[in-house]
Amino acid sequence: MDAPTRWEIDSASEDETRRVAAAIASALAPGDVVALEGTLGAGKTVFVRAVADALGVPASAGVSSPSYTLVNLYDGGRLALAHLDLYRLGDDDELEAIGFRDLLDGERALLVEWPERSEEVGEVATVWVRLDDVGASRRILVVTALDPAVEPGLREALAPWPPARRAPAG
Ligand SMILES: Nc1ncnc2c1ncn2[C@@H]1O[C@H](COP(=O)(O)OP(=O)(O)O)[C@@H](O)[C@H]1O
Ligand SMILES: [Mg+2]
Repeated sequence: MDAPTRWEIDSASEDETRRVAAAIASALAPGDVVALEGTLGAGKTVFVRAVADALGVPASAGVSSPSYTLVNLYDGGRLALAHLDLYRLGDDDELEAIGFRDLLDGERALLVEWPERSEEVGEVATVWVRLDDVGASRRILVVTALDPAVEPGLREALAPWPPARRAPAG
C-alpha cells in the first residue's frame, strides 16, 4: 500500500493555524476522528475552536479543553462534534466509561487532544495532526490522512498547502 498522504505546514501565527483547521473542517464527515498531538500550548484547542467556528457551532468561542470531563459535545453546527482531551485519562476502561464507542456511532466527528494516551484512538483515527511548537508563534502542522476515504477531500481542502514529498521507499 502507498504511504499515507502527509502535509507539513509551516504556520507563522495562530490565524494561520486557524485557516488550516477551517480547511480541514470542510473535509470532515460524521465518523471522522481527528487526533491532535502536541505539547501543552502547541495549539490543539486553538485548532478545535477553529474547526467549531468553521462548522458554525454557536458560541464556539466557549470551546475549551475538557481536561476533567474528558469530553465536550458541540451541536448546532453543520456537523456535530465531540471534543476529547485525554490528558488525564487513566486507562481505556475510563474511555469506555465516557461512552467512547457510542461517540463513534457515526453521527459526529471527533477531535481528540492527547490521543497518544489511548491505544484505541490510534486504531480509529482517520486524520492525525501533530503540532510542533518550534518557538514564538511558529508551529509546524504535520497532517496525515490515515483513512484513504478522507484523503481526496483533504487534498482538495488543503490545496493551498501542497503535500510533503514522500521519502523514497526502502
Ligand atoms: N502558530 C500558532 N498556532 C496555534 N497557536 C499559536 C500559534 N502561535 C501562538 N499560538 C498560541 O499558542 C497557544 C495555544 O494554546 P492551546 O490551543 O490552548 O494549546 P493546547 O491545547 O495544545 O495545549 C495559544 O495561546 C495561541 O495563541
Ligand atoms: Mg488544549
